[in-house]
Amino acid sequence: MSTTFTLTEEELDLLPSDDDVFQYQQHGWFLSKKLLSDEETALLESASEDFYAGRLDRPLPARPPKLAYWQPSAGSVQRHNDYIHYEDDRIGAILRKPLLGAVAARLAGTAEIRIFQSTLILKPPAPEEASNIVPWHFDRHYWATSTSERMLTAFIPFHDCTEELGTITMVDGSHLWKEVATNDQTSLHFAERDNSELDQMLDENAAFNNAEVTKIPVVIPRGHVNFHHCLTYHGSGANVGDRPRRAISLHLQDGENRYRDFRRSDGRQVAYNHDVLVRRTPAGTPDYADPDYCPTIWRSAES
Ligand SMILES: [Fe+2]
Repeated sequence: MSTTFTLTEEELDLLPSDDDVFQYQQHGWFLSKKLLSDEETALLESASEDFYAGRLDRPLPARPPKLAYWQPSAGSVQRHNDYIHYEDDRIGAILRKPLLGAVAARLAGTAEIRIFQSTLILKPPAPEEASNIVPWHFDRHYWATSTSERMLTAFIPFHDCTEELGTITMVDGSHLWKEVATNDQTSLHFAERDNSELDQMLDENAAFNNAEVTKIPVVIPRGHVNFHHCLTYHGSGANVGDRPRRAISLHLQDGENRYRDFRRSDGRQVAYNHDVLVRRTPAGTPDYADPDYCPTIWRSAES
């Protein structure tokens, strides 16, 4: 069975132009038009508050080893909750909006987009809070078990997202850099690594490419979405504002993406959290097209 995905006339006007796609290819990121209505972002905010208060539609059946999962006992640190599209139906319905997938498909140059992961994020207004700093990294490093190099992330704030609130910051054009020889550490999540080491990694990679590091904090109006390529370095700073910075990081995969066996130099197998949750393919490997965890949100009519 093949679901048909369609856009309204108004939504068609919100797709990236050919020049936008070219800019994304050059810079590694793209700030969209207004893809979510004020009602939708208001619902994201109220549903997230219900979630933080303990309301779940569908709890994860298992706790993967590297799950990011803030609970009230953790206190006033930066909150990360993976699989929000799975656990919360109202939030999930907005994240599955075909328009988000259609914009991603245009940027990535693919016919089909599936959700890969989604993380609900709250950065408390606490200038000195160390956990609010997201060190420089690119997302592909966490996705070593994925075959695709076209995956991308949609950063979706629920409100105007300013530099003061610690908005996401892009290292312009860094997705085109060649990487300095990789080491086993690169597949570790930034939460497992030292911030100064990650800063150094960015500088080393820039020097290796004879590139300047141009950091662009992306000021995102409410309802707009910042997309970035899976090889684009990014991070974010302190929240020096007077309210929490609320957002979802929606990680997206192209239809071609598959699981691959990936090993560190000592032979140890790298695992992604999906690997203990998703169904198996006929070959017995984790199925990154499992509709429960990785729903398809866009497929072009011509494919
Ligand atoms: Fe990231």
